Amino acid sequence: MVAIVKLLAALSFFLVAQAFPAAEDFSLVSRSKLTTGPGSMCSTKKFDIVKLFPADLNGHGGPPIDSPVAKYPTFVTLSVGYQNYSCLDNGTWFGIGAVTQLFDISCIPQNTIQNFTTLVSKYWEAAGPGVSPQEVIDLAGASAFSMGIHYWIPSPLDPTNPLAINAIWDFRQQRMQTDVNVKRAWVLSAGDGKVPAPTNGTFDAPWNDSYRLSINGTEQGGLAAQIYRINSNDGNTPPGTCTPGIPQKQVKSTLNFWFYGGDWAHTIF
Ligand SMILES: *[C@@H]1O[C@H](CO)[C@@H](O)[C@H](O)[C@H]1NC(C)=O
Ligand SMILES: *[C@@H]1O[C@H](CO)[C@@H](O)[C@H](O)[C@H]1NC(C)=O
Ligand SMILES: *[C@@H]1O[C@H](CO)[C@@H](O)[C@H](O)[C@H]1NC(C)=O
Ligand SMILES: *[C@@H]1O[C@H](CO)[C@@H](O)[C@H](O)[C@H]1NC(C)=O
Ligand SMILES: *[C@@H]1O[C@H](CO)[C@@H](O)[C@H](O)[C@H]1NC(C)=O
Ligand SMILES: *[C@@H]1O[C@H](CO)[C@@H](O)[C@H](O)[C@H]1NC(C)=O
Repeated sequence: MVAIVKLLAALSFFLVAQAFPAAEDFSLVSRSKLTTGPGSMCSTKKFDIVKLFPADLNGHGGPPIDSPVAKYPTFVTLSVGYQNYSCLDNGTWFGIGAVTQLFDISCIPQNTIQNFTTLVSKYWEAAGPGVSPQEVIDLAGASAFSMGIHYWIPSPLDPTNPLAINAIWDFRQQRMQTDVNVKRAWVLSAGDGKVPAPTNGTFDAPWNDSYRLSINGTEQGGLAAQIYRINSNDGNTPPGTCTPGIPQKQVKSTLNFWFYGGDWAHTIF
């Protein structure tokens, strides 16, 4: 539990500033001082995701990651939780979903985001098996930086296939709870690019991008048009084969989701 409290404390400006001298460069224009709505807490105009991509990001296999659909991200978040894997009858691990908690990290300078994410990962990995994701979520829900949750649902495009799932990011219960547009504060996506993590492609979840789904012409939520998964720490498919019938594996995961476009793009400042 101590490690979890540290994890949440790590999100405070104070500790970030201590951990990273460059944090003095923070653009501390807090959204709470503005009246234009519940977008990111700090300016996202300092972010350029492409600068975080190694030049050869798309050169190591996997469908390539696209360029962003907008100049600036609408939201930049930290994701802490689990990615779940099940052992299929043919002895391979298969990703069956994830449950993660999302935090606003728009106040952290771009050049420290990767190290900050790794720092949080160290707290989360050290939290011990006694700490349930629900406890993390409950504690996190009390944090001012709390944005929402990320989880998966059976694919509405392929409902009879038990292995077909799509990811959702949902800010309705947290950041957007009192927003007039709360009903659209979620997005259901389908994957696009997916490349090995440049840090450690074996253990860290692939970096990827996905796009909002439209089903029969209806946009599946308004939170974003495009979502990137980057700066992953751990969370990848367990290496090797598995024995069919063994319990599902929950792999801890700490990473960033960056959101582009969507209904809140006009709040970018
Ligand atoms: C195991 O089955 C899954 C689901 O049908 C399939 O995607 C995967 O390629 C299979 N792996 C092997 C090694 O056959
Ligand atoms: C994945 O693991 C989380 C954390 O234990 C759990 O809450 C969730 O129900 C699991 N989801 C699936 C699809 O297995
Ligand atoms: C991030 O951490 C690495 C490894 O500890 C270090 O070499 C690098 O200078 C750090 N980057 C920043 C911007 O602090
Ligand atoms: C899209 O509309 C068609 C025709 O009404 C319907 O058969 C299909 O089930 C719909 N697809 C989804 C994913 O809802
Ligand atoms: C990338 O990750 C997100 C969230 O984990 C998921 O929605 C998406 O399907 C993934 N994309 C690919 C190509 O696997
Ligand atoms: C990836 O991480 C694992 C586990 O920490 C480590 O054993 C391995 O050496 C790392 N590989 C690289 C290329 O850093």
